[in-house]
Amino acid sequence: MPVINSIAAMEEEMTAWRRDFHMHPELAYQETRTAGIVAEKLKSWGIEVKTEIGKTGVVGVIRGAGDGPSIGLRADMDALPMDEHNDTPWKSRTAGVMHACGHDGHTTMLLGAAKYLAETRNFAGTVNVIFQPAEEGFAGAKAMIDDGLFRDFPCDQVYGLHNWPQMPAGSIAAVPGPIMAAADKFDITIRGKGAHGAMPHNGVDPVVIGAQIVTALQSLVSRTTDPIRTAVISVTMFKAGNAYNVIPDHAVLSGTVRTFDGRVQDRIEAGMKSIAEGIATGMGGRAEVDYRRGYPATVNHARETELARSVAAGVVGAENVRQDVEPTMGAEDFSFMLQEKPGCYLWLGGGGGAPSENVHHPQYDFNDAILPIGASVLARLVEDLQPKR
Ligand code: NI
Repeated sequence: MPVINSIAAMEEEMTAWRRDFHMHPELAYQETRTAGIVAEKLKSWGIEVKTEIGKTGVVGVIRGAGDGPSIGLRADMDALPMDEHNDTPWKSRTAGVMHACGHDGHTTMLLGAAKYLAETRNFAGTVNVIFQPAEEGFAGAKAMIDDGLFRDFPCDQVYGLHNWPQMPAGSIAAVPGPIMAAADKFDITIRGKGAHGAMPHNGVDPVVIGAQIVTALQSLVSRTTDPIRTAVISVTMFKAGNAYNVIPDHAVLSGTVRTFDGRVQDRIEAGMKSIAEGIATGMGGRAEVDYRRGYPATVNHARETELARSVAAGVVGAENVRQDVEPTMGAEDFSFMLQEKPGCYLWLGGGGGAPSENVHHPQYDFNDAILPIGASVLARLVEDLQPKR
């Protein structure tokens, strides 16, 4: 049971959709053109549509033959604030905005699956096709949930997929447990006392305090975190002073924390506060820690992952379903949906599509060859998991 024939026949059409989205990228919560096209296509295929969920989100409801459970399939629609350095005819026409993460392809694959499912309805129950805004840092999934997504469109399970250029085109990874990290941000403001650079004894140097804090924070990973688990603390900004001969009166350290486990996350947040405040106080200054939790870890549910794996094997062959994939420290807001509903977030190999095989790179481009594969996997998730009785 490889790629669905009628979806394979849509490759040219889907490629045209994808390139159109690519030419007209839109940033978080501004996806009005994209959402408009999505809604219009869904309606033209006889699908019930609700728009403006979580600002620019769209949901289509496809009812199968007879009663059955309900499944949610999700794609993200937003682009990134960066210039494109490709030279294709479908290059971004909006300066400073680019589909550099392949969400144009995700939207297209879910549209392809929706078109096929609406035509064939060879399943029981309901499918909710969920097109979300603002995955790139602005929690569009959460915005849709807060706006009643799962209340108005109940889902027993949810699935999403992301293209993965580092894996060969046509391979799939579905791994149980944590696969992407929680991403938190912090700002530590250190207050000292300004002084002449030549007379440090008259002040309290926040730069020296900050340097101690940067070093000590690393002990939260090496000494506080269970070595079997993992975390990253990166101080990525250290801002202080603006003269060669002036000790400033304050400094600000900022950065990111990545974790897979809520207990590790709790200990790091608490530890960061006690280290920063303790060191600053001990050296005669003060520190205030502003720790902000971002996306939670993306944790795949075991049963649904197993189901997704068997469906994927049906499309790409068991030999192309990868089991050797390591989690990544990147973050993903499908995590909010997986906190609410059991499901799985799959990675779809997309290698060989463009000069750069890294998403968020100015020369990345979605590999159109995988459009029928992704659309088939999404469609088969429905047909295999909710067979018509
Ligand atoms: Ni992405």
